Amino acid sequence: MLPFSGTFAALGENIAAAVELHLAERGGRMGGRPVQLIRLDDESNLANAVQNVNRLLGRDRAEVLIGTVHSGVVMALVQASRERGVPLIIPNAGNASATRELCSPTVFRTSFSNWQPAYGMGLALGKQGVKRAAWITWDYAAGNEAGEGFRDGLKAAGGEMVRELKLPFPETNFQPLLAQVPGLEVQAVGSFFAGGGAVQFVREYAAAGLKDKVPLCGSGFLTEGTLQAQGPAAEGMRTALHYGDGLDNPKNRSFRAAFKEKSGREADVYAVQGYDAAQLLGIGMDAAKGDAAAEKEWVRAMRAARIDSPRGAFTLSPAHNPVQNIYLREARGGLNQVIGIAAEALADPGTGCRPA
Ligand code: PHB
Repeated sequence: MLPFSGTFAALGENIAAAVELHLAERGGRMGGRPVQLIRLDDESNLANAVQNVNRLLGRDRAEVLIGTVHSGVVMALVQASRERGVPLIIPNAGNASATRELCSPTVFRTSFSNWQPAYGMGLALGKQGVKRAAWITWDYAAGNEAGEGFRDGLKAAGGEMVRELKLPFPETNFQPLLAQVPGLEVQAVGSFFAGGGAVQFVREYAAAGLKDKVPLCGSGFLTEGTLQAQGPAAEGMRTALHYGDGLDNPKNRSFRAAFKEKSGREADVYAVQGYDAAQLLGIGMDAAKGDAAAEKEWVRAMRAARIDSPRGAFTLSPAHNPVQNIYLREARGGLNQVIGIAAEALADPGTGCRPA
């Protein structure tokens, strides 16, 4: 269950293509059984989320769930997994509660918590001497929780987030917000947008003449899978994320080549997260010999997994969220080049999770 239309369509397509890639590498099998993938377009639409999950588990008789991108929509999947014991692997949505107060033995995430990348960005900014910054985002869980990470990171390094400016998801009427930036007297603007919305925001930020006056940074989604469309508007932008295009490890090199070969597109963080969701599921289903009802077996194996990811190998926290490096990146010539580590082996605080 992923968005294949709307502002996050490209994210869903790359996640799905990478799941297919890993499945193909395994000869289409997990735990000794052939695996059939069912695609459902959730459109990042909250109104249809519960119905979509019920369709997958009912009519489509899905035994395992992989999804989704949007932090609100994912809660319908989390709910279903908690109630029915169906394995759920979240390949993007960073909603904090999924691995904090609503953590569950059957819910796993191969992506991030919204707090993680933004914390790294805030920390890096504070260390560069920024004392005052603002945060601009969509007003929903992902943007708001990332804002908290940004605030925490900045504060830990002696800076302060003095203002948050927001608009409803997935609106793109950025002009009234951009008009306020010069009056804020901040040294930097941090931001969470992604997909089509990020393309437009970064372009309009530059077009408004702000790029050279108040540097724009943020969770790395801002420039992820979007650089070609953003063009010069993104050049030189610094962001923080658990992945970077040029990461120099053998797994990343082979993954990027295989993904390009399969999809005709460059890999990005979304592809990496989808690939790792499939890797984690393979580990679980192999341990359970393909029986999704053998909960103890797949939970134990997935909890203990060490995922050989293109981002660098990672393990899961007790709340089932990746413990991972947050890289500082700079957009150069159409690539998000890694220029340092903003936060090493960063775990989400996991507040309120009492793992069973
Ligand atoms: C989210 O809603 O959790 C979300 C969406 C897109 C991203 C990152 C997080 O790129």
